[in-house]
Amino acid sequence: MTERGRFITVEGGEGVGKTTNIEYIQEFLEQRSIDLICTREPGGTPLAEAIRDLLLAKSDESMHATSELLLVFAARAQHLESVIRPALATGQWVLCDRFTDATYAYQGGGRGLNSEHIALLENLVQQGLQPDLTILLDIDPEIGMQRARARAELDRFEVESAYFFEQVRKSYLDRASQYPQRFAVIDAGLPLADVQRNLSKSLLRFCDGP
Ligand code: TMP
Repeated sequence: MTERGRFITVEGGEGVGKTTNIEYIQEFLEQRSIDLICTREPGGTPLAEAIRDLLLAKSDESMHATSELLLVFAARAQHLESVIRPALATGQWVLCDRFTDATYAYQGGGRGLNSEHIALLENLVQQGLQPDLTILLDIDPEIGMQRARARAELDRFEVESAYFFEQVRKSYLDRASQYPQRFAVIDAGLPLADVQRNLSKSLLRFCDGP
């Protein structure tokens, strides 16, 4: 029987350098001849990308936090069933830009939704599937937001308050302490070369074992 592929997720607040570091992780794994797909949440399929557009677009009608939560999981269900599970089943590794830890951080921490409700949807949609490794790129949200503002027009999440992003960061760090085996926390405030040296160390440990 084919061995299931491994599932790696990358998390962090705004402006942590996810794109650059995901490219680095992808290259690192491909150099080790790992068959890998790179995907993202919300998104990863045409339907889930359409839901992403709804989630990120600023609109005159304000979105209720519960509607937001359900949309995030609707996109996730589609992505899991059409892309992630089939890839893992054929032995491919999956590298995903954000996953359910983002829901605990943004909808739980940021919006203040009850984490037990998030866990209910998580169980329904994931049926026990969890990432094997989660890389959390951590940065002071003030510095992250300065970077995000310099980059492009801000989306519906990026216009949130400093308090919102402090709660997002706190929830991510709480998740990391709750699941220390799964999480690698990387200080994304360091110079890029140091961030990537630390990423390599975590990836080597993950690929080769202790
Ligand atoms: P990104 O592509 O910059 O990561 O943008 C995705 C946005 O969606 C980001 O602001 C975080 C937000 N998000 C949630 O609020 N909940 C989730 O579960 C996920 C995956 C993303």
